[in-house]
This record gives sequence, structure tokens and C-alpha cells, in this order.
Amino acid sequence: MEHIKLKAPAKINLTLDALKKRSDGYHELKMIMQEISLCDDIFIKKLQNPVIEIKTNVKWLIPDEKNLAYKAAELIIDRFNIKKGVSIEINKRIPISAGLAGGSADCAAVLKAINALFELYIPKENLMALGAELGSDVPFCILGGTALAEGRGEILNQISPCPKLFLVLVKIPVNVSTGTIFKSLDIKSITKRPNTNAMISAIESKRIDLIADNLSNVLETVTIPLFPKINTIKSKLTELGAYGTLMSGSGPTVYGIFKSREDSCTAADTIRKYFGLKDVFVCETINN
Ligand code: C5P
Repeated sequence: MEHIKLKAPAKINLTLDALKKRSDGYHELKMIMQEISLCDDIFIKKLQNPVIEIKTNVKWLIPDEKNLAYKAAELIIDRFNIKKGVSIEINKRIPISAGLAGGSADCAAVLKAINALFELYIPKENLMALGAELGSDVPFCILGGTALAEGRGEILNQISPCPKLFLVLVKIPVNVSTGTIFKSLDIKSITKRPNTNAMISAIESKRIDLIADNLSNVLETVTIPLFPKINTIKSKLTELGAYGTLMSGSGPTVYGIFKSREDSCTAADTIRKYFGLKDVFVCETINN
């Protein structure tokens, strides 16, 4: 095999709870993560020279050695003593700094792609451990599906697959740094926490109404006061028929769950026109 093309799907949080701040600076989390159909495309080619080339279809993503996809290639090539290089092309659709793990998704896809391209046969668990060195969301992006994530997000247990949810994702044009949001989180002042077990039961019983009722993310208390427009969008999604709405990760992306693809397309059109936003996506949950 000389080249490979892979999808790099984004994620949303169905719940996100922060239990405590750890001595290593990270937060101890408990969250339900879900793979969605919004994705980037990654195309990787073997190169004879030991170099890593990277390019993207968008101007705003600087494809240098700080890019997580570049770092992923560098790490796996170094760790497995690969003597060749790779050219990486990223067709970007997932907005960055948005709470959707866009960078982590590309990173995970590069690890998977190089594993396959160079026939390294690294088992999934080991690939996930490698991914954890690059970012807390990378292991989930390798695993996919529906999972309970603990620790700093890297301890994963796949749970019963979430029933198909029709989603509208809306990102206001601000970029949010996960680190900054976590830094402003005051754990002691959290009054409303997700009921993770209730969400797991709702997923197991395929009750979309109960999934919608249990959507909860403690980081909303930090990001929404900074960008109140997020709440306005949540209200509009509800007014347009969403069963429930939630900010994903550290934001600013929010999503609404709709009854059908048709309903989500209609709501997305209204949101685009009403707020004049371009980052509005219709997608659905996926399970491998
Ligand atoms: O792991 P990652 O590099 O994606 O995390 C970005 C930043 O988000 C971390 O540097 C940390 O400030 C914050 N974070 C956290 N607790 C987590 C995950 C991330 O405080 N569990």
C-alpha cells in the first residue's frame, strides 16, 4: 500500500462533568462522548525521503510542526523507527477550537493511517495510549462510537451505542482555548452536574427524550458568560423544535437534537439566515 484515505470524525459531548483539579494541572473528568458524521478527510502518501509534508485546503490552519497531525506522524515514525516519510493532506470541515475535537480527530486519523500504511499492526489500545501522549481527546477519536471517558479523558469504556440523533451544530465565530476555559472553572461553585448514570440508562434504553433531558456540561458555566450569544442560539434551537441543546466540550459550538434529518435541515437554514452564521452543520451520531 502506497497511500490511504481516511475519515476523521468529530465528537460531541452528551455530558461533561469535572470532578476535581489534579496535581498535574489537568481536571479529573467524567463524560459521555459521541462520534458524529461531521468529518475531515485525511489522505496520506508514503515518501521515500524521511520527511513529513503537510497541507490543508484552508488558509486558517497553519500546517506546521505544531499541528497535531504533524506531531502524530512525527511520534509514530520515531517510535516505530520508520525510515520513510509521509505526505499528509487534510481536507478540513470541522471548525477548530470549537469543542468538537477537530485537531484530535486529524491526529487520530494520522496514527491509524500510518499504522495501516506501514503495516505496523499496533493494537487499538496501544494506538490509543500513543494518542494520549498528544492530547486528552485523541484516544476517543481512535476508539469512536459512544464512550464513557474518565481520567483526563483518556480512560475509555465503550457503552451501548447511542441511538441515531439528528443534529444541528452551530459555532459562533470565536475560537475558544480549552486550557483557558478549564483554568476559569471553579469546581466548588458548580451547582448543576450531569447525572452520568441516568444518561447511560437513557442511551441503553434508546430513549431520545431522556437523552435530551440529561444533556449537561459543567463548562457551559464558564464559556456561556464569556459568549452569551451561545445561550441565544440554544434558545433559538429549542424554539425551532430541538428536543435538547448542549455546548460541546469547552465550546463555543452548541448543538440541538432534532426529530428527523428534514427538521434539522430546516432549523439549520433558519439559524444561518437569522444569525448570519456560516459554521452551521447538519449531521448525525455514528457508531462503528
Ligand atoms: O490534553 P489537551 O492538550 O487537549 O488539553 C488542553 C488543555 O485543556 C490542557 O492543557 C489543560 O489546561 C486543559 N485540560 C484540563 N483537564 C482535562 C483536559 C484538558 O484541564 N482533563
